[in-house]
Amino acid sequence: MTSGLRKGLTAYGDAGFSLFLRRAFIKAMGYSDDALDRPIVGITNTYSDYNPCHGNVPQLIEAAKRGVMLAGAMPMVFPTISIHESFAHPTSMFLRNLMAMDTEEMIRAQPMDAVIVIGGCDKTLPAQVMAAASVDLPTIVIPVGPMVVGHHRGEELGACTDCRRLWSAHRAGEIDADEIEVVNGRLAPSVGTCMVMGTASTMACMVEAMGLALPMSATIPAPHAERIRIAEASGRRAAAMAVSGEPRPSALMTVSAFRNAQVVMQAIGGSTNGLIHLTAMANRTPVRIDLEAFDAIGREVPVLVDLKPSGDHYMEHFHHAGGVPKLLRELGGLVDLDAPTVAGGTLRDIVAAAEDVPGQTVIRTAASPVKPTGAMAVLHGNLAPRGALIKHSAATPRLLQHTGRAVVFESIPDMAARIDDPDLDVTADDVLVLRQAGPKGAPGMPEAGYLPIPKKLGREGVKDMVRISDARMSGTAFGTIVLHVTPESAVGGPLALVRTGDIIRLDVEARRIDLLVDEAELASRTAALPAATRPDWAARGYARLYHDTVTQADQGCDFDFMLAP
Ligand code: FES
Repeated sequence: MTSGLRKGLTAYGDAGFSLFLRRAFIKAMGYSDDALDRPIVGITNTYSDYNPCHGNVPQLIEAAKRGVMLAGAMPMVFPTISIHESFAHPTSMFLRNLMAMDTEEMIRAQPMDAVIVIGGCDKTLPAQVMAAASVDLPTIVIPVGPMVVGHHRGEELGACTDCRRLWSAHRAGEIDADEIEVVNGRLAPSVGTCMVMGTASTMACMVEAMGLALPMSATIPAPHAERIRIAEASGRRAAAMAVSGEPRPSALMTVSAFRNAQVVMQAIGGSTNGLIHLTAMANRTPVRIDLEAFDAIGREVPVLVDLKPSGDHYMEHFHHAGGVPKLLRELGGLVDLDAPTVAGGTLRDIVAAAEDVPGQTVIRTAASPVKPTGAMAVLHGNLAPRGALIKHSAATPRLLQHTGRAVVFESIPDMAARIDDPDLDVTADDVLVLRQAGPKGAPGMPEAGYLPIPKKLGREGVKDMVRISDARMSGTAFGTIVLHVTPESAVGGPLALVRTGDIIRLDVEARRIDLLVDEAELASRTAALPAATRPDWAARGYARLYHDTVTQADQGCDFDFMLAP
């Protein structure tokens, strides 16, 4: 098998000439023959001025290159697209599959024997792992790491749970315009990903638990020297993988690894987005995520990590308490410790080396959990025939069984126009319903599931209501929020049938979400739905590809033609 610079020659019909030409061009960069004869480790560059979460990527690349060269291989850095949550229109989710395709094709197209993917901001790690699974070249992940915490008036602040909490307080008139402006400068005090247990942290923890990154990779704060050292160590390891050709992602992304990831997702109080991304990652392999099995894991696995938004602390506290290795030790028999890792051994080796930190309270024991059952539950019912998700660990307990009158918003613009209308007919016991916010509907399944509390109720002190949508929610958000209703309303899912005044019943214990309208009436409403047509936004280009082929939330929202057999 060819390796190094000889891999994947450009097709000129003469392999010798293709290699001759390749060497001639690359020598323009000043490389020696010795360098060009080494095994090659590709390193993705996802730095972008639009992506502050990846602000440390240049340092991590330098460290990874150093590690590769110290181990005798040749690092080659190449760009891929980079996506930041707040700088991607319409949503970063709309672009995740494009990043996965870009990363996959650049790894395939260019000669490399192993690859290091450096990412972190929400959709980037899933996109990179989806790509790695499809290419199946030896891959090691370096997460960029979480931000350090912010401080305001003696309180610790974290992006973006506290962004939402303090913005809600501002909307309710509890924080004035001057103070909210000061807060704005303190919520994200360093480069790195959001430092609560949002999607970025969830994905980093799952990637580490799946053995795709070195131990402690998920939690080391982005600005710390330790983060740079682990990038160097990852570079060394990648060089060894480039020589040995193993382990490949297919050896690591096994049934056990995906189950371990689901256990960890429940135990950390992870982001609901994590389930969609894990499903998409699995669908690039022969493994499939089963929603019922995920729910069963949630009933069995306690929440052990006390981080916002389900708990009190931040990623740096999780790190100093022992990080993912210590969590895996506490989970004990709930995880398969024989699963192999990119470090060369198994999770058992990593757990054996986990640090015990006296007095820490961030990683709990099974005997003293943050919550006795997992963070998320899968709901079914006539409103969600293929499932919906609720993060009950971040919900108001008394609302987990609730029957109320629906107040329906037709779309995100409709919600934005009416939610704060003083004449809106709404009470704290109502159920806010948002539709046309799913994968195809909005498009890009925006994180709009955290519908704001109507201003007039917020001013009365209402902090939470039952909210239901086919949207996603930021992993940093909290509340009694039913998400990912599948199928979505834009493809004729039952959410399209709800009318203001209908009664909806939520019963999380029974795992049910139902619209209490009789069958005959629902059938007549279904018959009256307009036929689905391709909307104007999907007329051409990537948007058309996305619209025509994106799957629903229960299938991971990948393109239907990207799934592995
Ligand atoms: Fe990048 Fe939160 S905005 S991780």
